[in-house]
Amino acid sequence: MHVKAQQFITYDTVDELVQVLAQLRGSGERILHIGGGSNLLFTRDFQGTLLHSGIKYIEEVSRDDREIVFRVGAGVVWDDFCAEMARNNFYGPENLSYIPGEVGASAIQNIGAYGVEVDSIIRAVEAIEVATGMPRVFEVSECEYGYRDSIFKNRLQGQYIVTAVVYRLSVVPVVHLDYGPLQELKSRGEMPTAQVIRDAVIDIRRSKLPEPSELGSAGSFFKNPVVPVEAYRQLAANYTQVPHYVVNEQQIKIPAAWLIEQCGWKGKRHGGAAVYDKQPLILVNEQQATPADIMELADLIQQSVFEKFHIHLHPEVNYI
Ligand code: EPU
Repeated sequence: MHVKAQQFITYDTVDELVQVLAQLRGSGERILHIGGGSNLLFTRDFQGTLLHSGIKYIEEVSRDDREIVFRVGAGVVWDDFCAEMARNNFYGPENLSYIPGEVGASAIQNIGAYGVEVDSIIRAVEAIEVATGMPRVFEVSECEYGYRDSIFKNRLQGQYIVTAVVYRLSVVPVVHLDYGPLQELKSRGEMPTAQVIRDAVIDIRRSKLPEPSELGSAGSFFKNPVVPVEAYRQLAANYTQVPHYVVNEQQIKIPAAWLIEQCGWKGKRHGGAAVYDKQPLILVNEQQATPADIMELADLIQQSVFEKFHIHLHPEVNYI
């Protein structure tokens, strides 16, 4: 099912954005800035203006014998940036290859996959304040990054529009191969290049995740829950081999995919929506799902995981 917005505006420069914001401020209309839209669930028509960045450039800022710094326009497709970096064998974003979306959203959402989160390569985020049109540069330390979280999603939600992200990459190999299927690359003798890692990551994503152009989804629908060690111990007493990752001395992260599978949801349908059969953390739009189909399915999953495990799943997808 389709939902509509009153207006959709793409701008190509920061100056154009500032002008558009000044006009919209006068009109008092609601605005929502989107990237590729791949992590949004529109629950109904949007009564307002959608803004989208067309700011696209990848600019080298500086380089020495270890590091290279790029400033990248918020409207660049994230994976185009990854592809160009891997082609040049600059290390940093290769584990994050093939994630849908755009550069601006990568810095808001703190995208992550296969043992890497993007905040580890961000140096700064350039933004425009919606209320004033004034520019502001956030150093990475000011962005309050956490698991799929940042100041732009929390305290400053809706207050700033990201216009560019400054990334710090390595010109010498620095690799992250601890994620299960990537470990195999370690045993090949020579150090894999950024391009080899990128290719392996794309293969893994293609085998586990639905191809966005073929089957609609928003990637992982829920975040992986982080629970106190004690709650994990109780769970492990009842279920042998609960998969888990240690976050710190007090907290353990449990894969939501496992919790959902244990509740019998894999492959189940609800209206036009379904739980992806190869990865139950992903809800797919199988047959013209309505927003209600998806929201109800998500609610039912949350309820049954809570009933069985007393763990709350929180959506990773943003409901609009
Ligand atoms: N699992 C099952 N059954 C399944 C699939 C997985 O029990 O059918 C369990 C297994 O124990 C497996 C674990 O879940 O080891 C983790 O699965 P997977 O490696 O596929 O990753 P995930 O935790 O489900 C997270 C991210 C993904 C990211 C992958 C790889 C979140 C919310 N999701 O998923 O990110 O690609 O790790 O690093 O943290 C996204 O954010 O949209 C996204 C796709």
